[in-house]
Amino acid sequence: MQTYQTALITGATSGIGRAAIFELAKKYEKVIFTARDIQKAELLKEELEKVTGNKAISYYLGDLSLMKDTSAICHGVIREHSSLDCLVLNAGILGSDQRQLTEEGFEQTFATNHLSPFLMSHLLLPLLRKSETPRIVIVSSEAHRISRFDLMNLQGERKYRALNSYSLSKMCNILFAKEAAERWQDDRMKVNALHPGGVRTNFGKNGGGVLRTVAFLMAKPFFISAEQGAETLVYLATTDAGVKLNGQYLKKKKVIQPSGDANSADNAQKLWDYSLALVKSKLD
Ligand SMILES: NC(=O)c1ccc[n+]([C@@H]2O[C@H](COP(=O)([O-])OP(=O)(O)OC[C@H]3O[C@@H](n4cnc5c(N)ncnc54)[C@H](OP(=O)(O)O)[C@@H]3O)[C@@H](O)[C@H]2O)c1
Repeated sequence: MQTYQTALITGATSGIGRAAIFELAKKYEKVIFTARDIQKAELLKEELEKVTGNKAISYYLGDLSLMKDTSAICHGVIREHSSLDCLVLNAGILGSDQRQLTEEGFEQTFATNHLSPFLMSHLLLPLLRKSETPRIVIVSSEAHRISRFDLMNLQGERKYRALNSYSLSKMCNILFAKEAAERWQDDRMKVNALHPGGVRTNFGKNGGGVLRTVAFLMAKPFFISAEQGAETLVYLATTDAGVKLNGQYLKKKKVIQPSGDANSADNAQKLWDYSLALVKSKLD
């Protein structure tokens, strides 16, 4: 069985990320995860070590809706690790019914679901470049099909609806994968996005209104388990598919076409420039 060196996954304390990290810990020599709750992180590390026998598990704490925390996590990883083979950008939220800005002034869903993964990928790029087979795996969603791309409303500036904001952020994941795949191909980097399925997780359970409805739906039997929901992620992170495919969007381990707006090179380029301007101070 082939083993890889080092993987990092965000949002591993629950749902799809939690199911995936157990598989990563079997295939990768070292596994790093991010969490925002130290107790959950400690419990997960302990359980991972016990279940998989992998003792090279480490974590970094931070709130990924904040670019300062995202940046601090990345600088910690860079200080303590010499290379990175696989970056899995999984943490995500469905925001609250009312538009909420972080203390840094970004809309919460956009910041957590897109801007933080965008910044993290940029900051960890030098470490990924040290790998022979670097890959980035981004957890998007078929929910991206609900919305049209609107650069002027990516943060709900004109009109905010939680589901629309979520949908746009997941479209951003696909557009980012597409553009990064193009721009970073000289670095041998492979960047792909995926839809995990409708998965029974904690997703949306803490909110009100539309969130409760989604959480209710998730309890329904037609939703798949977290382990099943992690399958395409694990496929991209631990098989050759993840270093052969580039700039693709997958569902059930198969490449599928995203919506026209999520497949537009023009949108991808505009999103890149817009996002870069927002995090520029963290990249200087
Ligand atoms: N469930 C589905 O049906 C479905 C469908 C399509 C796509 N997805 C995508 O799958 C990904 C994982 O979702 P899930 O269903 O597994 O949800 P989940 O059970 O709610 O897990 C989300 C993970 O992200 C972490 N997280 C959320 N906000 C964070 C923040 N500000 N800072 C740091 N960590 C944060 C959570 O940490 P805590 O444990 O501390 O809360 C948790 O580990 C998301 O990107 C979601 O958009 C899910």
